[in-house]
Amino acid sequence: MRKKVILITGANGEVGHGLIHQLSGMADMPPVIVLDIRGLDDHMRPRVYETIVGDILDTALLETLINEYEIETVYHLAALLSTHSEFNPEVAHRVNVQGTVNLLRMATEQSHLRGQTVKFIFPSSIAVYGLPDLPTKAAAGAISEEQFLNPTTMYGCNKLYCEHLGRYYAFHYRQLAVTDELYRVDFRAVRFPGLISALTLPTGGTSDYAPEMLHAAAQGKPYACFVREDTRIPFMAMPDAITALLALANAPTEHLSQRVYNVTSFSPTAAEIRDLTLSTFSGAHITFQPHMKRQAIVDSWPADLDDSAARRDWGWQPKYDLRAAFDEYLIPTIAKRYG
Ligand code: SER
Repeated sequence: MRKKVILITGANGEVGHGLIHQLSGMADMPPVIVLDIRGLDDHMRPRVYETIVGDILDTALLETLINEYEIETVYHLAALLSTHSEFNPEVAHRVNVQGTVNLLRMATEQSHLRGQTVKFIFPSSIAVYGLPDLPTKAAAGAISEEQFLNPTTMYGCNKLYCEHLGRYYAFHYRQLAVTDELYRVDFRAVRFPGLISALTLPTGGTSDYAPEMLHAAAQGKPYACFVREDTRIPFMAMPDAITALLALANAPTEHLSQRVYNVTSFSPTAAEIRDLTLSTFSGAHITFQPHMKRQAIVDSWPADLDDSAARRDWGWQPKYDLRAAFDEYLIPTIAKRYG
């Protein structure tokens, strides 16, 4: 008998760490195997069953995994974020799109072998949106899943296309085959806002100014914020992001009226994040030195998201609003982290 497992790709990123923490503490969960090109940090290893150091572009490796394990759920987190992707768009496309195709293909094959659908949980992003200018952004307010789907970044294009691929593999894969495909993947995606963790820093994103500001302040380092003070995009505390992934994974299929859902928590300006940071780390030195090109990317992202579909269909409800995120999660945890 092959062992039933949960597979997490990109597990050494900050969402991966949060997810492993949460899953390893839950009763009745299959063990977790992780696949990450960087391996997994030593302190996380006891929490997982196996760590595979490898590339999602390596199809032979993925083939070995489905022969060795019975994968019930895939959390496909591996991706190059938006800023990073702009420095090498074609590499980003390979990792973000071809990597996702490889995983969807693997999950489909696994569904056949199991005679049961494999769940495929995919973090998408506010980067799928592209608002043309600031007046439109201000007027648009909280936008719903179908609006303004004109991404300006390679990462945003990749995420939007992968959402379509997910729906394709879930509902239309090989639709002209002579025999019907009985078992397809059960694809579900959340579009995350910027995420802020007290324990880790993201690498290569464009919403990184919020976590970077806070982590710099907690360490007594100066920080020059790369967007204007009035810049507003939605954010979420990392524990809520993990809650969203798990709640979506566990939602009964018949409750899902769509396969891609917005989720959000709060939408502060960069100045509000600075003020909250200063209210604890009063000696912090935070300045604003906008990088015009990164600013343009953030300006194209919505100020707020309409996540009513997630609230209605699977009971999405963030635990932390802005104040609670700082007072109850970010500040106490980060203060402990940096002593
Ligand atoms: N946090 C991501 C980025 O900045 C957006 O999803 O690229």
